[in-house]
Amino acid sequence: NISELSAAATELGHYRHYMQKEIFEQPKAVADTMQHLGNSFDPAAFGAEAENIFRSINKVQIIACGTSFNAGSIAKYWIEEFANLECAVDIASEYRYRKIPANKDTLVISISQSGETADTMASIKYAIELGMVNTLAICNVPESSLIRLSKLKVLTQAGPEIGVASTKAFTTQLVVLLYLAFTLAKVRGELANEAELIEQIRRLPHMVVEALSVEDEIKQIAKEFEYKHNALFLGRHTMAPVAMEGALKLKEISYIHAESYAAGELKHGPLALIDKDMPVIVAMPHNLLADKVKSNVQEVLARQGQVYLFTDKEDELSKQCYRTIVIQAKGIPPYLAPIIYTIPMQLLAYHTAIAKGTDVDKPRNLAKSVTVE
Ligand code: G6P
Repeated sequence: NISELSAAATELGHYRHYMQKEIFEQPKAVADTMQHLGNSFDPAAFGAEAENIFRSINKVQIIACGTSFNAGSIAKYWIEEFANLECAVDIASEYRYRKIPANKDTLVISISQSGETADTMASIKYAIELGMVNTLAICNVPESSLIRLSKLKVLTQAGPEIGVASTKAFTTQLVVLLYLAFTLAKVRGELANEAELIEQIRRLPHMVVEALSVEDEIKQIAKEFEYKHNALFLGRHTMAPVAMEGALKLKEISYIHAESYAAGELKHGPLALIDKDMPVIVAMPHNLLADKVKSNVQEVLARQGQVYLFTDKEDELSKQCYRTIVIQAKGIPPYLAPIIYTIPMQLLAYHTAIAKGTDVDKPRNLAKSVTVE
C-alpha cells in the first residue's frame, strides 16, 4: 500500500529530528540509489539517448545551488579524472545572468533535490535557448519541473527529505555522479577495470554504516562547538568541496559562522584568522595529497589553531592535533572518500545545533525549496 509506505517514509519514528533520521537513512538511501543504477556502468540508466550523447560531447557543465552545488563540485574531480572530459561547475544564480559561449557539444547537468529551485530551472532553460539541448537532471522528486524539462534524467532514491539542511539527498547525488563519471569513461573508452570498480563500490553502504559509528565521539566534540563563533573547514582535492559542505551544514543549522577553504589557499588569507580560539576542521584521508595537507595543518598548529582532524588512521601529526576523529570505514578507495567524510561533518553540525538548541529541521530564514529568484 503506497500511502502506508509514504506515511512511514515521512514519520519521525524513534528519531528526534528529521535531519537525524535522514542522516541515519543514508546507508539505505545510498544502497537504493546504487540498485536503481544497476550492476554495471550502463548509460541506459540515464535515459535511452544517453549512450549517443555521452559519446558525442566534449564538455560537461554542471549547474546547481546550495548543497547540490557542492555535490557538483566534487563530481568535477571525478569527471575530469575518470572520463578525461572538461567539466565546469556553476552556481545557477550566476550562470543564468552571464553570457555563455554556446558549445552545443556540452552535456548540461542540473543537480537538485527538489527539482523546483528557480535559479536552477532558469539556467537550464537558458542553456536550452542557447542550443545546448543535451540536458541531464539529477533529482530526488520524480514529477518535478526539472525532470520534465530535461532530456536525460536520473532519480536519486533518497526518499522524501524533510529537514531543510540536505543530507541523504547529497550523498545519493554523489552516488549518481560517481556512476555518471564511470559511465562517461566507459562509453568513451577510458575505463579498463569496470568489474573491479563495481566490486569496490558495492561496499559503500557498509562504509557509510561504519562512518556513522563516530556519532558518540562527535557528540562530545559538538559540546566544544556550542560556544564557538567561527569555524574554518579545510581539505584538498575532493575534500575541498567536502569542507564546503561541512561549513554549509554547520552555518545552516547551528548559526556558527563557518568558512571553507581549499587547504592550499590557507596562506593567501585565512591564516590571518588563526588563533587559539579558532577551530579548524580538516578532512584528510591518507591519499596522494596527504603530505600537502599535513604541511597546511602544521601551519595552523604553529599559530595555536585548534585542529579537529578527520582522518583514516592515527599518525605523528594526529598526536599534535587538538582532536582526531578516525573514520572507521576500512580500505576506502580515494574516490569514495568524499561520500564517507561527509557523514561526520553532518553529525557535527547536527549535534552542535542540538547543543545550541536551535531549530534543527527548520533553521531560521531558510527554506527547503527556493522557488523564487
Ligand atoms: C535550499 C535548501 C538547501 C538546498 C538548496 C538547493 O537552499 O535549503 O538544502 O541545497 O536549496 O536545493 P535543490 O532542491 O535545488 O537541491
